[in-house]
Amino acid sequence: MVNYILGIESSCDDTSAAVIKNGILLSNVIASQKVHENYGGVVPELASRAHQANIVPVVSEALRQAGISKQDLSAIAFTRGPGLLGSLLVGTSFAKGLAIALDIPLVDVNHLHAHVLSHFIQKTPEDKVPEFPFMCLLVSGGNSQIVLARSFSDMEILGKTIDDAAGEAFDKCAKLMGLPYPGGPHIDRLAAEGDPKKFKFAKPRIPGYDYSFSGLKTSFLYTLRDELKKDPEFIEKNKADLAASLQATIIEILMDKLEKALKDHPVKHIAIGGGVSANSGVRKAVEDFCERKGVKAWIPERAFTTDNAAMVAAAGYFKYLDKDFCPLDSPPYSRVTI
Ligand code: KG4
Repeated sequence: MVNYILGIESSCDDTSAAVIKNGILLSNVIASQKVHENYGGVVPELASRAHQANIVPVVSEALRQAGISKQDLSAIAFTRGPGLLGSLLVGTSFAKGLAIALDIPLVDVNHLHAHVLSHFIQKTPEDKVPEFPFMCLLVSGGNSQIVLARSFSDMEILGKTIDDAAGEAFDKCAKLMGLPYPGGPHIDRLAAEGDPKKFKFAKPRIPGYDYSFSGLKTSFLYTLRDELKKDPEFIEKNKADLAASLQATIIEILMDKLEKALKDHPVKHIAIGGGVSANSGVRKAVEDFCERKGVKAWIPERAFTTDNAAMVAAAGYFKYLDKDFCPLDSPPYSRVTI
């Protein structure tokens, strides 16, 4: 039997809708919110308002690109959390309203599960997917985690950040350099031209698999402060080397813990996900690491690294097959672990 799942993502500053047919992606529409660039970070109230303006056209466009009408839908999968509550409320309310109007089931999706399961987005039935159990380095603007995925629903967080996320480290240090928000992609671009060994920044010493990035941020800040006293043009003259050295330090921190986790939890497949997994250096480091360890690396398409509804629809599809539906009175949640 044919089933069509509509996925809706509205957890932060991207409004997205996607349609999958029997597990195969037909459309994935994303409206990013430019309004936050002026503020150097996401402004929650502006994000909610932009979601309200975007949600109807984005869903209509996803249905149009899929070549179906809303009456064809079998279920609606939506991001219930974690994320910004006001943003989540828009997607959740819209999903509920449409599910009631069409009299079809609702499937709630944990945003972090969706990132891990983004590797199950298939554009054709021949597209390969990871084998359970696999480990996922989940690195975004809000999270840095090492997740052990045993099945579609059984996931354990082995380690997580105790302060900033890797994306925040990129963004905050980029801001100190005067780069626009979000700074991660700018650092990535500059780093390609720079010397990763030129500057040394602090690395945390934390037991277990947990991450910390706040010490690195402080050490980056102090380097800039001290050097700017000597030469006010220090940043301008060294921006590529600063970016390359910062990126290399973040990657070293990420890879140290991933190596430790793999040693204690041997798996045959390692995946990465989240906005920071778009970073060229991170992608290369994980590929090289997996090759050295004889493990299969799963590097997502860049379009599926940042927030997108394709991953929500994919995660929702497996819950739909299990008839794991969500009651209409389920509220969104801003915080939750995996
Ligand atoms: O997963 P995501 O879209 O949403 C949040 O969790 O917020 O991740 C956004 C984060 C931002 O911190 C952004 O700077 C970072 O992902 N990012 C990158 C790159 N592309 C996005 N960081 C480093 N290099 C990139 N190429």
